[in-house]
Amino acid sequence: MLGSFPTTRHRRLRQTSWVRNLVGETHLSVNDLILPIFIREDSLRADPIPYAPFYRHTLAELPKIIDQAVASGIPAIMLFPALESDKKDDSGSEARNPNTLVAKAIRQIRGQNLPLGIFVDVALDPYTAHGHDGVIVNDKVDNDATVERLVELSLVLAEAGADALCPSDMMDGRVAAMRNALDAQGFDDRLIISYTAKYASSFYGPFRVAVGAKTLAGLSDKKTYQMDYRNTREALHEAAFDVAEGADMLIVKPGLPYLDVISELSKKTYAPVLAYHVSGEYIMVKTAAQAGYMDERNAFMESCMAFKRAGARGIITYAALDLAKWLKES
Ligand code: PBG
Repeated sequence: MLGSFPTTRHRRLRQTSWVRNLVGETHLSVNDLILPIFIREDSLRADPIPYAPFYRHTLAELPKIIDQAVASGIPAIMLFPALESDKKDDSGSEARNPNTLVAKAIRQIRGQNLPLGIFVDVALDPYTAHGHDGVIVNDKVDNDATVERLVELSLVLAEAGADALCPSDMMDGRVAAMRNALDAQGFDDRLIISYTAKYASSFYGPFRVAVGAKTLAGLSDKKTYQMDYRNTREALHEAAFDVAEGADMLIVKPGLPYLDVISELSKKTYAPVLAYHVSGEYIMVKTAAQAGYMDERNAFMESCMAFKRAGARGIITYAALDLAKWLKES
């Protein structure tokens, strides 16, 4: 039943902040935020990208940012390593090293015994010389050889103490292979948070600079494994497989251009859906704000509220620390 003007005036419910708060349909809390953190080997420079969330921390510097995350009440972090180029090869064999940088970081954070979830990206791009997320065989990213290596990496990370393994590679069958291997080693308590709908996107540019995986030698893009941005049905198909293979949560990535995908997955699957508000989206707001075209606080709040409105349970965002502070103030 619809009212009509002038007996119904929509603006009556917008006129003060108390009434707007009362009828607000969507809420954002610090519990919704996951903070990505970059770590680096000591020999690398700290800041190839001049924005604080992309600062690459050494292991010695890590406690400071971890303490900040805990003090802001952020429930979880997600770790990404930047390795020296001499550790990288064509098949990403460093991913098997039980003492690889990210494993050391996990052990170090675990040792602090904090109320903080440790999520780790599971993909080979920080470990391969060519910057692809997989092992290349005959000029192609080989699915099954890559899955084997991802399983090895997952076991290294689980052994180090990671709470959640987040495959971001888009190989077929990786969730099942990881779940089986983790369960067989007694890691049935570890979550698999799968990048289910990860699109071949231009919005990952700053991230690739931050992990030093910018040159995609051979194949020029990731379109043979990451999804085609014309498709949503394909995302549902991927999601059905990931859930059947044992994924605990699903990630949609990038974020804002894919709100329709977040909405579809959260309506049509039972698994919680996370939005990844990616590096390019972050930089767009920051640069616009710096040029005076936008208020960054409002723009980040609006972006996160849009993810929640679309159905996301949580948001992986480089603005997490700022958002936590703003949420406390408001
Ligand atoms: C690795 C990975 C990427 C991102 C997260 N994990 C880059 C890529 O797939 O090329 C991008 C995140 C961001 O842009 O913030 N596979």
